[in-house]
Amino acid sequence: PKIFVLNGPNLNTLGTRKPEVYGRETLADVEARVRRRADALGLRIEFFQSNHEGEIVEMIQRARTEAAGIVINPAAYTHTSVAIHDALEYAERPTVEVHISNVHAREPFRHHSYVSPIANVVIAGAGTLGYELALEWLEGHLRPTHS
Ligand code: DQA
Repeated sequence: PKIFVLNGPNLNTLGTRKPEVYGRETLADVEARVRRRADALGLRIEFFQSNHEGEIVEMIQRARTEAAGIVINPAAYTHTSVAIHDALEYAERPTVEVHISNVHAREPFRHHSYVSPIANVVIAGAGTLGYELALEWLEGHLRPTHS
């Protein structure tokens, strides 16, 4: 089964962006580790990052027929995007929302998520390990794709 691992805006700057909050690993480092975990679990992944809301919406729409599950860190769009919420509702895939930082311990504008109401699982504050935990959960909760 294939899992889409989707990352939103500014996550391409991991490693140099606020390392005290997001750590020193780059997104490429995270991708390599997530791929190793996926291999161990017998999952295939498509890893994708975009700074553009519409591109993320289009990937989520593809997930309806092409992915057995979704791991998504919508980054700042978490707090703003009805479009991503609606796309996830349409995709009807088991979905894990991941935040590297504990958004609830940060500024109030990070406390609300448009994604959490449609996510099956929400992980925040586990660092980049959250992506691996998300795969672990999905491995036990996959459904067949729509065709
Ligand atoms: C984030 C938290 C968001 O509030 C922020 O806009 C991000 C990253 C996280 O992974 O902790 O870009 O989603």
